Amino acid sequence: MTWTVQAVLEAAEAVVVKRGSGPARVDLARCLAGVLGVSRLHLLLDYERPLSEDERASYRARFQRLLDGEPLAYVMGRREFFGRSFRVTPDVLIPRPETETLVSAALEALPEAAHVFEPCTGSGCVAITLALERPDLVVTASDVSAPALGVAAENAASLGAEVEWLKGSFWQPVAGRVFGGLVANPPYVDPARPDLFDASLRFEPEAALFSPAGDPTFAYRELLAGGIDGLVIGAPVLFEAGIDTAEPLADLAERHADYGDVTRVLDIAGKCRVLRLRRCAVTG
Ligand SMILES: C[S@@+](CC[C@H](N)C(=O)[O-])C[C@H]1O[C@@H](n2cnc3c(N)ncnc32)[C@H](O)[C@@H]1O
Repeated sequence: MTWTVQAVLEAAEAVVVKRGSGPARVDLARCLAGVLGVSRLHLLLDYERPLSEDERASYRARFQRLLDGEPLAYVMGRREFFGRSFRVTPDVLIPRPETETLVSAALEALPEAAHVFEPCTGSGCVAITLALERPDLVVTASDVSAPALGVAAENAASLGAEVEWLKGSFWQPVAGRVFGGLVANPPYVDPARPDLFDASLRFEPEAALFSPAGDPTFAYRELLAGGIDGLVIGAPVLFEAGIDTAEPLADLAERHADYGDVTRVLDIAGKCRVLRLRRCAVTG
């Protein structure tokens, strides 16, 4: 039998159907397209293309990882974000669609030529996209994880973005500096609420996901506190939040004397996953 694209995909789909669970059909095709180094459209137009023994072995290994529940982005080592392809490894969070809402809101809110700080950068997808979409901005990004910063720097080099990368916790690596904007997607999943997250998260770095148990707004409080000295008056602040953290965070921001103009940014499904606020002068 000749193992064509069609035959390989049908065999993989049959395994998933027999198991009753597994990767989505579209991911099986994306995975095969990645192995063959072609686009998914190209793959679909070339259903009769025969696979070499090496190509089949490579697909089999990746298919097994997908069956084990590993996200496609780690299996392929890449993820699309804001129309660009980013390298991802198990050292970084897989960029999410909701983070594109954060970036869109930031692109709109950040003033011309602002120096923007993005702590918790992970793969660098936010900082790099800001730098590429708005060449007027000066972008500094940081993370506690040295391996994550390595991935971010590699992404910046391959995508041609200029970003300053620093290692350290929240505001610590930029102590004494003052920025014109803050954009952050910090860890906000409460490990005390396993009902709120799914099993595939087990492949992602814990430091990227989890807040201290029972305290999902911890990182935001740290970032808001640091912003009192670290942001100019009027600087926009954009935060991504979890489904369960957006409202407690909005409440926190609304009661904070040093911040104002708290706005809930809705995604296309009408859900609030991003908050916009502003560093303001304390009156009275
Ligand atoms: C939710 S991920 C966000 C990654 C990326 N910005 C994105 O949106 O896809 C959070 C990142 O924060 C980093 N991190 C965790 N605690 C931190 C801290 N105290 N200071 C700076 N970065 C931290 C993690 O290593 C991880 O890369």
